[in-house]
Amino acid sequence: MSGTRVDRGRRRLALGAPALLLGATVSGPVSALTTTPKQSEGPFYPRNIPSDSDADLTVFNNKRAPGEVIEMVGRLFTTKGQLLPGGRIEIWHCDVNGVYAHVGRNTPPGFQGFGAVRTDSSGAYRFRTTLPGIYPGRTRHIHVKVRGANGAALTTQMYFPGEPGNERDGLLRRARNPAALIARNEPGPPPRYVFDIVLG
Ligand SMILES: [Fe+2]
Repeated sequence: MSGTRVDRGRRRLALGAPALLLGATVSGPVSALTTTPKQSEGPFYPRNIPSDSDADLTVFNNKRAPGEVIEMVGRLFTTKGQLLPGGRIEIWHCDVNGVYAHVGRNTPPGFQGFGAVRTDSSGAYRFRTTLPGIYPGRTRHIHVKVRGANGAALTTQMYFPGEPGNERDGLLRRARNPAALIARNEPGPPPRYVFDIVLG
């Protein structure tokens, strides 16, 4: 088999599951990746970005958020398969009781609920947070808003593998490619959810 054919095989693999590229070396142009599907923003994007909005959402005002600690990691790609350093990744999600940190709503003192980072020189990002709870009508999810340094933007939601509610969630089921929105789980501790994002 020629080197070219091996490369083609790798590219096909990347198309369906960009997460599999994590840790691999991406060199030179890769064939087109499919854009991560859009999802609705919902009503709980913060009205004001909180003063503590760093990559560690498990601690807020020196207090620890209740709930199971998890990591959410991934890399940001263009549709050409190029890694995007310097992209802004924002996440927000509800607390263990299914409540968002938002105007008029009460969440535990240590619950940050929103975080923002920039992708590093390899296009990677990492958050440490707590497993979101579930609220009526939805399966477990984390809201994600992305803006690449090239100006491309995306609002979407990340889902958790193996959740019974995934089958019944209308938003997830109506997505163009639901599988692309379900993170890949890696054993911990803490458990890690890999969510690679392709910006169109
Ligand atoms: Fe939500």
